Amino acid sequence: MKLPSNTPPRQPLNWKSYWKQLNALILLALLSAQTCHAAKLIAGATQLAESRQVGTDKLDLQNVVDVAYSKYKDLQDGANADYIPILATVPSDLFGVVIATKDGQLFTAGDIDYKFSIQSVSKPFTAALVMQQMGPQALLDKIGVEPTGLPFNSKMALELYEQRSANPLVNAGAIAAVSLIQAESESDRWAQIKENLENFAGTELPLLDEVYQSEYETAWSNRAIANLLYNYNRLYSDPEQALRVYTQQCSLGVNTKDLAIMGATLANAGTNPLTGKLVLNSRHVPELLALMATAGFYDESGAWMYSAGLPAKTGVGGGIVAIVPGQFAIAAFSPRVNQAGNSIKAMKAIRFIAGELGVGLYGANPEE
Ligand code: DON
Repeated sequence: MKLPSNTPPRQPLNWKSYWKQLNALILLALLSAQTCHAAKLIAGATQLAESRQVGTDKLDLQNVVDVAYSKYKDLQDGANADYIPILATVPSDLFGVVIATKDGQLFTAGDIDYKFSIQSVSKPFTAALVMQQMGPQALLDKIGVEPTGLPFNSKMALELYEQRSANPLVNAGAIAAVSLIQAESESDRWAQIKENLENFAGTELPLLDEVYQSEYETAWSNRAIANLLYNYNRLYSDPEQALRVYTQQCSLGVNTKDLAIMGATLANAGTNPLTGKLVLNSRHVPELLALMATAGFYDESGAWMYSAGLPAKTGVGGGIVAIVPGQFAIAAFSPRVNQAGNSIKAMKAIRFIAGELGVGLYGANPEE
């Protein structure tokens, strides 16, 4: 066949340049594969970052609160605590869920205005007052920060642990925290503790007198704890005074919104988002959150962190507040509690919200 005249004559095969071109092609392929992989990584990271920032999106926050409320509102598991007799009379079906952001926005569902007794949810906030007055080292030296792994009212913990009181989030350490408040008299001690809790909530909190009477009249176990601690030099005021003020502290009335704002104050590095008041020095907030992460659920603290991955505190009145540091707090209330004294509906609602928003401290951990 005759070649057209403008076709250059075929060059003999140049192996050197062929090899170069092949190398260039392989390099190009490798580079584009890497770029593709890098792009995938960036996309994944962006997705994760986006899911972790859902906290700033109003629609998502209201939606997840609504979904959590309707998902669990008919759950009947557990029963009201009754070792404090009046708690058994609280309507068991009450259920409220609130997210409060660090700038004070609220997203709510259910019975969010019902006032219930704060109970043990008060404990970290009084521990915070001890830190404010005496510094975090005092909490470490005079009470302890180890989780007991035992129920909140354990007397055995006092015998098991050499230092006796072990943690301000169980009854023994919490009564000790009350006794550590620098006060001139019983009424001064109570006034300071109440004011501190109100500063966290950004509103006045009423003493639920019927709860106080019911609890104080039956406080034999806590009285034993206070007296044992005093005997071991781990209580720092008259034991009966510490017991009375501690019982008053537990009998303060809060609603789910109040609890959420108390948590939002911690999410906001110690400054109340409603009042702008600095309630806890920001450098103590991580220490307090660490306590809540390790002991907030007593002998269920491990299971809680394993699932929800957030520092939180429960109360036998049915309230729970969890904190997403630097972002917001999730509070829930429902009176039916489990064996450990933790509200089942509140626990499930908060765990669900944390999973959906992907805000667990150790990474996004949605429910299966
Ligand atoms: O001292 C008590 O037993 C109660 N005032 C508080 C216990 C409590 O809230 C346990 N929480 N889940």
